[in-house]
Amino acid sequence: VGSAAAGSTGEADRPPVSLADFADLARATLPPGIWDFIDGGSGVETTLTANRAALDRVAVLPRVLTGVERPRTDAVLLGREQALPVAVAPMAYQRLLHPDGEPALAAAAGAAGVPYVLSTLSSTPIDEVIAATDGPVWFQLYWLRDRGLVADLLDRAHTAGCAALMVTVDVPVLGRRLRDVRGGFALPPEVTTANLPTGRDDLAHTGTPGVSAIAAHTEAVFAPALTWADLAWLRERTRLPLLVKGILDPRDAVRAADVGVDAVVVSNHGGRQFDGAPATATMLPEVVAAVGDRVEVLLDSGVRSGTDVLRALALGATGVLLGRPMLWALAAGGRSGARAALDLLAVELRDALTLTGCADPAQARRLRTLTGG
Ligand code: FNR
Repeated sequence: VGSAAAGSTGEADRPPVSLADFADLARATLPPGIWDFIDGGSGVETTLTANRAALDRVAVLPRVLTGVERPRTDAVLLGREQALPVAVAPMAYQRLLHPDGEPALAAAAGAAGVPYVLSTLSSTPIDEVIAATDGPVWFQLYWLRDRGLVADLLDRAHTAGCAALMVTVDVPVLGRRLRDVRGGFALPPEVTTANLPTGRDDLAHTGTPGVSAIAAHTEAVFAPALTWADLAWLRERTRLPLLVKGILDPRDAVRAADVGVDAVVVSNHGGRQFDGAPATATMLPEVVAAVGDRVEVLLDSGVRSGTDVLRALALGATGVLLGRPMLWALAAGGRSGARAALDLLAVELRDALTLTGCADPAQARRLRTLTGG
């Protein structure tokens, strides 16, 4: 990625200097239907837009004369040291973006020293992803109607050596993603859900007009009516650190902490589920106030730079998940593209820490924020 060919003056040949540059590269590479699948949100994309707007409104008050020359960027998440307070968000079907798919992104995350969260809807078997990286892999669980299958997935994740479990709770059904509905989005034949015994037919064509193939598959396979008792069942079944992803209401964060989870992820699924949900940066301070002394609080949805990571920390998060930018970088340059994007994020975070007078991410959590610019 980014090696400017001699004599070339094309925009696309300049090395990316921001994560947004990877979006331009990806958009130029991907078929429009796949671009829309990753880029889009649900409904009229109010929540998708709100995520960015809310982060942009967070001003962070820099401290001066703190004597910091080169801040550290490393952080402890779930009791484990990592290079950045960041993990790669769980995202489905990564072979859609690049033939190397999940193994490439997991390897890049491992090399950059951050956890990779492997989706239930991975297009590569769990074992192959774990084998591709030295770094920690966390397993993301979507609760399936077939509880035997849930137990089987958990067993495979444990046996393969996953370092944590993240259960996603904001997909009782798939949000109506109008770009995918209009475009009749379905998976190409070479991309499958490698860890689920579902027939390809479910994903390759919709059968129902007005519903994307992926939404139809979700409805057929996912358990729609989970309760806190199911979360307690999961807590009983694993000794791995347990994260719940898709929390917005602080009352739900309290209930999750009561069940004994180790972390909550304040997330609206990148604006892909309930269109009308608040931005995550809006809800984060309330969740931190409610449970921040009991569990770790992560944030995702809209993080696009080291400055955004700093904003999340200053609002009280212990770390963030990075979603779409990792898919852009994977599409643009496979494993090395993804590594370049994470290295860039590290540079940006170090810069943001230096400019706000912080010696490390923990100090950033003591910065003041103002909303409104
Ligand atoms: C996702 N997300 C997601 N979440 C999850 O728990 N399991 C999954 O399989 C997926 N799949 C998925 C696919 C694609 C293409 C996207 C864009 C997102 C949601 C993801 O983990 C994360 O919450 C958001 O992507 C964060 O928002 P940003 O960073 O993309 O704005």
